[in-house]
Amino acid sequence: MKILVTGGAGFIGSNVVDGYIGAGHEVVIMDNLYTGKRVNVNPEARFYKLDIRSPEAAAVISRERPDILNHHAAQMSVPASVADPGFDADVNIRGFLNLLEAAVKSGVKKVIFISSGGAVYGEAEEYPTPESYPPKPLSPYAITKYCSEHYLAYYRHQYGLHYTTLRYANVYGPRQIPHGEAGVVAIFMNNLINGIQSMLNHFPEDERGMVRDYCFVGDVVSANLAALTRGSDDFFNIGTGQGTRTGDLYDAIFNAVKRAGQAIPEEMSQMKKQLARPGDLKKSCLTIRKAVQSLNWQPRIKLAEGLDKTLKWRLNQI
Ligand SMILES: NC(=O)c1ccc[n+]([C@@H]2O[C@H](COP(=O)([O-])OP(=O)(O)OC[C@H]3O[C@@H](n4cnc5c(N)ncnc54)[C@H](O)[C@@H]3O)[C@@H](O)[C@H]2O)c1
Repeated sequence: MKILVTGGAGFIGSNVVDGYIGAGHEVVIMDNLYTGKRVNVNPEARFYKLDIRSPEAAAVISRERPDILNHHAAQMSVPASVADPGFDADVNIRGFLNLLEAAVKSGVKKVIFISSGGAVYGEAEEYPTPESYPPKPLSPYAITKYCSEHYLAYYRHQYGLHYTTLRYANVYGPRQIPHGEAGVVAIFMNNLINGIQSMLNHFPEDERGMVRDYCFVGDVVSANLAALTRGSDDFFNIGTGQGTRTGDLYDAIFNAVKRAGQAIPEEMSQMKKQLARPGDLKKSCLTIRKAVQSLNWQPRIKLAEGLDKTLKWRLNQI
């Protein structure tokens, strides 16, 4: 198949590109390198350095006529969306609509859209949270992701454009940049390697920090492979079903770094603490039964193993 991956120079998108190319597909990447990096671009893919909001981006879709549009490009920081909701909406909604309009005109068969299970449900009362739980987005980022899901249903209804939405949990692994909340694994690893004390954001009632569902990027790649042929016109949580507190995650990374033989100053076993930021959720963890059944997918990498793989990659970067 011919697949156009937006955000294919970013952390997750570039891993997905490698997975698609490894499976024998032809891949085109569109990325403006806002947070993505040229070194992440697979040399076997055709690369367009373009903003998804531009007329040129639409023209590339018309010229390339991909079978599948896999949409990873996004403004993906919750705090940045709180600081500037207009920019978040411009990239995440207007940019997406630019691509969808071009996709319809160019005969794209299916859109694989990347949403956020860690954001759209809001502070869910059902935990772990299934897809049947009604989303209550609590940040501009969560709102634009959920809004985009509605546009997909509209384009399906109006033009017959098929879609599969993947609502990711917190993804971690090689190529993650230490920025934003989603990058907490990369941030802690980076800090431990560089002897910098890490900060734990917490709510007053729980000093061990917030609960998140950490999913290894290799498992996320498998979900994107499955979504090429399965799960049409439906949405799926992609996570592990296991919640981990930030404090426990830090300890696990601390132990992984120690296992790798890195010297860590004793005081680094403790974290500094500060109260949660606007838009932060106390708890987020996803049920994955629907993806297991319909996508024939399941996560295979346990947290300790995923942290070791990530650390191995990180230490090779030095
Ligand atoms: N990292 C996570 O845990 C997580 C969780 C849920 C959902 N997601 C979603 O997964 C996707 C990929 O996230 P990531 O963690 O790899 O982040 P990332 O920042 O590494 O990747 C985003 C990519 O999009 C590109 N991009 C941004 N704005 C663009 C624009 N206007 N035009 C073209 N390209 C643009 C960036 O340069 C970057 O390469 C995003 O849609 C994000 O919302 C990520």
